[in-house]
Amino acid sequence: TRQTGLTSLDYGFVNTASTRSAITFIDGEKGILRYRGYPIEQVAKRATFLETAWLLIYGELPSASELEEFDTKIRRHTLLHEDLKRFFSALPHNAHPMSVLSSGVSALSTYYQDSLNPKNPEHVELATVRLLAKLPVMAAYAHKKSIGQAFLYPDNSLSFVDNFLKLNFGNLAEPYEIDPVLSKALERLLILHEDHEQNASTSTVRLVGSTEANLFASVSAGINALFGPLHGGANEAVLAMLAQIRDSGEGVGRFVERVKNKEDGVKLMGFGHRVYKNYDPRAKLVKESADEVLAALGVHDDLLEIAKELEAIALEDDYFKSRRLYPNVDFYTGVIYKAMGFPTRMFTVLFAIGRLPGWIAHWREMNTDPQTKIGRPQQLYTGAAERSFPAR
Ligand code: SDX
Repeated sequence: TRQTGLTSLDYGFVNTASTRSAITFIDGEKGILRYRGYPIEQVAKRATFLETAWLLIYGELPSASELEEFDTKIRRHTLLHEDLKRFFSALPHNAHPMSVLSSGVSALSTYYQDSLNPKNPEHVELATVRLLAKLPVMAAYAHKKSIGQAFLYPDNSLSFVDNFLKLNFGNLAEPYEIDPVLSKALERLLILHEDHEQNASTSTVRLVGSTEANLFASVSAGINALFGPLHGGANEAVLAMLAQIRDSGEGVGRFVERVKNKEDGVKLMGFGHRVYKNYDPRAKLVKESADEVLAALGVHDDLLEIAKELEAIALEDDYFKSRRLYPNVDFYTGVIYKAMGFPTRMFTVLFAIGRLPGWIAHWREMNTDPQTKIGRPQQLYTGAAERSFPAR
């Protein structure tokens, strides 16, 4: 429409295609987010990550025995095929962890060929458990590789989150003690990322899955979609933005003016949303955690103060108010991940680990919906009318 002034109505059709789903409800005007009907504020404070994953995938909260069996199954599948270590070792040490992760998930499908058939329910269950169990291990591999440390093996005596912390921050030279503050904070952050309706990466997973591609291939595509700085990559971009404001000495006010003048396409990363035209309810919960976690870890980070100053200015400024730009989930998460000890390039990997249950839930919903058709987004043709090719 922007190029030609024409709309889909001029072409005789209206693109009414929208995806039906029962998994997550968002009201962008009111800033409401519910997982299977449960408000995010309650889920984030009362549930565990795996309990929420079960809820999203199977539709109801698990019984105690269902959750215990699910947790046990996942612990039993954390080991990666030993050959995968050679695969990871062949990648450059400075490879971006998101590239390592998407490549690793694709590679998983070559080792686990007994869980690739989307039309075989046992294959789908096995692929579900394998991805939930092995993605955190591969993510930790990517982290260890980027800092030149040895890969660790998973410790199945630990919970999902604690095992992930030990894989990242433990080492072969000394015992690792789980910090309950870290564990609780990371569990809550992962829950806040578990699903978000038809965002770009989830839509990618559904689109790839609609061709009857296997779950590993679909999730690998979703990881690549999430990588972009306009989507999950924003949490990494926010830290770079805050550090640039601090290190350049330009100050928050001058930066905000540059954003408003759209100098060099600069954006206020971590602000704005395709759906929320109000405060992202997740951002509120993350901001609450930021103060708690940094204080509990005894960390002072001037980037958090810069973020708060940026938010305060933006929420009062007509440029942002008129465009209904508010903090989204990515605005404060990076400051917490940094305080936890994760390198900036691991931030979007953490988003991917959080979002995996949502990707799986949507893929399975699409895969079992008899009305599912292969994805084929409509196009408005704006090119040349018919013309003859020069005679030769
Ligand atoms: C996630 O969809 C999901 O659910 C995603 C997600 C999930 O859980 O899966 O919530 C996770 O991806 C959150 C978003 C993370 N991305 C960022 O923080 C990157 C910065 N944000 C922008 O790039 C932007 O806000 C988007 C991409 C998030 C949304 O873009 P929209 O809604 O399409 O907004 P737009 O591009 O139509 O912009 C409308 C106006 C424009 O100005 P004008 O042309 O009218 O003058 O608002 C401006 C834009 O220039 N604008 C911004 C801005 N975002 C929009 N100006 C400055 N800074 C910004 N961040």
